[in-house]
Amino acid sequence: MSKLRVLFATSEVAPLIKTGGLADVSGALPAALHRSGVDVRILLPGYPKVLEQLGPHKVVASFDRWAGLPAARLLSGTMANHVPLLVLDCPVLYQREGGPYQNTAGQDWPDNALRFGLLSRVAALLASAETPLSWRPDLLHCNDWQTGLAPAYLHFIPGGAPTVITIHNLAFQGNFPAEIITELGLPASCFSVEGVEFYGNLSFLKAGLFYSDHITTVSPNYAKEIQQEELGFGMQGLLSLRSAQLTGILNGIDTAEWNPLTDRYLTNNYSHARMFGKALNKRALQNRMGLGLESGLPLLGVVSRFTYQKGVDLLLEIAPRLMELPVQLAMLGSGEAALQEAARALSHRYPGRIAATIGFDEALSHQIEAGADIFVMPSRFEPCGLNQMYSQRYGTPPIVHATGGLADSVVDCTPESLKDGTASGFVFSDMDADNLHAAIRRAVSMYFDQPHWKILRKNCMAKDFSWQTSAAAYLEVYRKVLSQRAEHRNN
Ligand code: ADP
Ligand code: GLC
Repeated sequence: MSKLRVLFATSEVAPLIKTGGLADVSGALPAALHRSGVDVRILLPGYPKVLEQLGPHKVVASFDRWAGLPAARLLSGTMANHVPLLVLDCPVLYQREGGPYQNTAGQDWPDNALRFGLLSRVAALLASAETPLSWRPDLLHCNDWQTGLAPAYLHFIPGGAPTVITIHNLAFQGNFPAEIITELGLPASCFSVEGVEFYGNLSFLKAGLFYSDHITTVSPNYAKEIQQEELGFGMQGLLSLRSAQLTGILNGIDTAEWNPLTDRYLTNNYSHARMFGKALNKRALQNRMGLGLESGLPLLGVVSRFTYQKGVDLLLEIAPRLMELPVQLAMLGSGEAALQEAARALSHRYPGRIAATIGFDEALSHQIEAGADIFVMPSRFEPCGLNQMYSQRYGTPPIVHATGGLADSVVDCTPESLKDGTASGFVFSDMDADNLHAAIRRAVSMYFDQPHWKILRKNCMAKDFSWQTSAAAYLEVYRKVLSQRAEHRNN
């Protein structure tokens, strides 16, 4: 039997280029599919960091001038984990200083519609009879708004492959003024409620949700939440209409990259059987971040984008109250200027007790997961979240708000759940400062009950968050979509 061929189109892939969890998933899910025997290839824009790390590669195709842009090329290389990679090289669009979506000042690139319009269009071409490659996928898997226009393009190309789109975060929609539709080469007729139109704009994400054969999102709980007004971000109507084609699949984690026993960023590797290394990582972290070298106080850790979504504002707000408890706090993050400033100010006000590193630092993120005693993740909404899973694997029980994937991946610690071995953290409902404070107090007092704390930590570290199960669930979705297409053709 020939292998299933899947093109996985995405705007970031770890370790080449990362702004958040999408990169982690785009690095690990294709690798897990590859191990399951799927012929999967990743399509990614040629940002400077990607080209620098690409290694040996070939030019495998070129695309004519489009939307006033010069011709683009497709380069083929291989990820370190052996997954084949197709890099879309269009220097005017992708080779610039700054991030994948924003310039160094944190403003969106003004030509994002074209940058990700081209990515979407090339994904669609590669998944159609018009592909310049001899390899043609059976299915196109899109991720978030940046590749959301691909199912719309494919809809207008006869004989295109079926599509699946994964929502990693419904809050980011890729909405642009309606006029851009002509430049993007889509027929004016698709600018309608039954198409790409969303409150008067052209929405890349809406296009993907409307035209794809199937929609997935990154946790079962979030799949339900986005069909309601509160977390539907205006798309709840379409999503509930399509609920029969909407599946929530909990993300896994890259268990090779996030393994306390082998983690290359740690000074001392450890496992549940050898926990002494964790205490040494705590000391190394305190040293690195300028915290007092206390061994008896629980150290709270945070690694986060500093945005409204993540609830960091509430944590900063209650920080002075937290300082009345016997705790230290180590934060790593970047994002909104006001939050960065508030975190810095707290570290000056409480030297040795609160430390804040502003920026993006892969090594430090691992060191916080390992060196902290308790991880704090009070997201207002969270499609899946990865850090709460990393922290469980590192024996650092997380405190989370009961939302999205956090509710699906952390079991609140109660006498019953401790007894039956499922307890793995502290979950609070009703997002506000008092409830967050109460959850932290609960975790801290549990920390001082060391026999029970050790059981909790052991439970956390024994949990299986590997991609295997989730990759199998994606395969099931692919098969369903392909058989529905085949059925449709035969009718
Ligand atoms: P999101 O994608 O919404 O930011 P996730 O929890 O899914 O949230 O994934 C975030 C990923 O980005 C994790 O791998 C986390 O460690 C990483 N990360 C977030 N902020 C930083 C930072 N400032 N430095 C290093 N890594 C970070
Ligand atoms: C998004 C979400 C996060 C999720 C990640 C990967 O960035 O905010 O919850 O874990 O995508 O799917």
